[in-house]
Amino acid sequence: MIPSGAAKLAGVLGWPVEHSLSPRLHGHWLERYGIDGAYLPLPVRPADFTAAVKGLVAAGFRGFNVTLPHKEAAYALCDALDDSARRIAAVNTIVVEEGRLLGRNSDAFGFAENLRAGCPTWRAAAGPALLLGAGGAARAVVAALLDLGVPELRVANRTEARAASLAETFGGALRVVDWQERAAACAGLNLLVNTTSLGLAGQPPLDLDLAALPPETLVTDIVYKPLQTPLLVEATARGNPTVDGLGMLLHQARPGFEAWFGVAPEVDETLRAFVLSA
Ligand code: ATR
Repeated sequence: MIPSGAAKLAGVLGWPVEHSLSPRLHGHWLERYGIDGAYLPLPVRPADFTAAVKGLVAAGFRGFNVTLPHKEAAYALCDALDDSARRIAAVNTIVVEEGRLLGRNSDAFGFAENLRAGCPTWRAAAGPALLLGAGGAARAVVAALLDLGVPELRVANRTEARAASLAETFGGALRVVDWQERAAACAGLNLLVNTTSLGLAGQPPLDLDLAALPPETLVTDIVYKPLQTPLLVEATARGNPTVDGLGMLLHQARPGFEAWFGVAPEVDETLRAFVLSA
């Protein structure tokens, strides 16, 4: 559907933004639901972030997704924050309401929904999880797993201080594991999650010996380029169930789309195939 002059407007702010799949994803939903709207890529330099948001709000934008490197700047700029944004200390979704910026974070939601859809029988409470990585993405995964009721969350990161800082922020169930001990920490797991950039196209694969991992442990990776990362390929080969990372991107987009365009959109195979064919 070609947008009219009264089209509802939203978009994604990033720098760079040309590789973002969000315009394709939201564009597919706008088309599918016959909505008079547009979702645009908005390349904005870090120094211009605040001015750009204010200008776009003045131009009638209903909201934005925010991607690298703006998630922390968005957190600082918003007039109000939801619980998830506050815990993760980053905003990935802005909803404009009467000129005020409401900051949300839907990454934890996206991670949890991806696991639910990809492995409906998996239960967080059934045992410990091991999280590899302690960057921005890891914070959302920690929030999601704690909300789902994981009894123990082992965190291993190359730079141990970042894992320790996560444990300090989120407390209780988190246990810092030495990066060199990550293979041993696979014993007895109910979930293994990679949030490092290792395995991403152009990066080295994650170097992890899976010998101690129980064969029924669910393995997931937030990297989705390639869809089957070396970790997921190896896990599948030894019989472990796996969930790839694309669904996290698709599901995190749902709350923003609903807020801006008024329809709760569906994630299905047609959407996945369309996004993957980019
Ligand atoms: P994101 O926001 O996507 O999580 P990030 O904050 O840059 O990005 O975090 C990237 C993660 O990948 C970090 O956990 C990083 O480990 P460090 O904290 O030690 O930097 C991890 N990572 C990147 N390259 C790595 C490598 N070669 N070996 C081990 N971990 C690596």
